[in-house]
Amino acid sequence: MKMRLDRWLATVSAGSRSEVKQWIRGGQAAVNGRVILDPALSFETEKDSLALNGKALDGRVTRHVMLHKPAGILTAARDAKQPTVMDLLPPVYRSIGCMPVGRLDKDTTGLLLLTCDGELNHRLLSPGRHVEKRYRALTDGTLTQEDAEAFAAGMDLGDFTAQPAKLTILGPSLAEVIIAEGKFHQVKRMFEAVGKEVLELHRSAFGPLELDPSLAEGQWRELTAEEEKALREAAGMEKA
Ligand code: URA
Repeated sequence: MKMRLDRWLATVSAGSRSEVKQWIRGGQAAVNGRVILDPALSFETEKDSLALNGKALDGRVTRHVMLHKPAGILTAARDAKQPTVMDLLPPVYRSIGCMPVGRLDKDTTGLLLLTCDGELNHRLLSPGRHVEKRYRALTDGTLTQEDAEAFAAGMDLGDFTAQPAKLTILGPSLAEVIIAEGKFHQVKRMFEAVGKEVLELHRSAFGPLELDPSLAEGQWRELTAEEEKALREAAGMEKA
């Protein structure tokens, strides 16, 4: 992405726009090894290399993150009272505009993606793209073949009709569920429609991405180049 040096530096460092202008005019900023004194010059954030006082900075402003969301944390960009998933990441992710891709309920754990790419985010959530999400649900009742059939048939949930979903019974009250949409409380509401309450809900996959088993709850990492490519393919932004 092309960006003015002052805006770029303010985005990826802790400095305000006026502070970074002073740093630049004082000869403290270098791009590709050359000191740049003009704050208004533009550079390619993902290609050019940025340094401050001789120290290389990570100048990327397009990043994608996989977070193992713990229970008890809100999926929101910010909240006046409660901690949000953004509080689990270093502040730079907020300043470069990273946002959660959809939401998991406060008590839901598992894979949450965050991206600074607004178009990717929007496309991954678009109902027409049918990007699958996989969950593991522990319920308060005994799951039956009729429940699986009800999920497979699609369900009238009052304000909307859920598309057919795949329910695989893993144990008396434990199931894997795959849905291709993501309406508010959808999985919980589908179980409620067959008379069961979800006691625990965990998302293990989003589209082509599986939750990295090495991430403990609350831990995160950036996506690899392959994962980003697979996600862009799922979003219809890149050819497979
Ligand atoms: N469905 C739900 O009911 N809750 C979630 O957090 C995700 C999907």
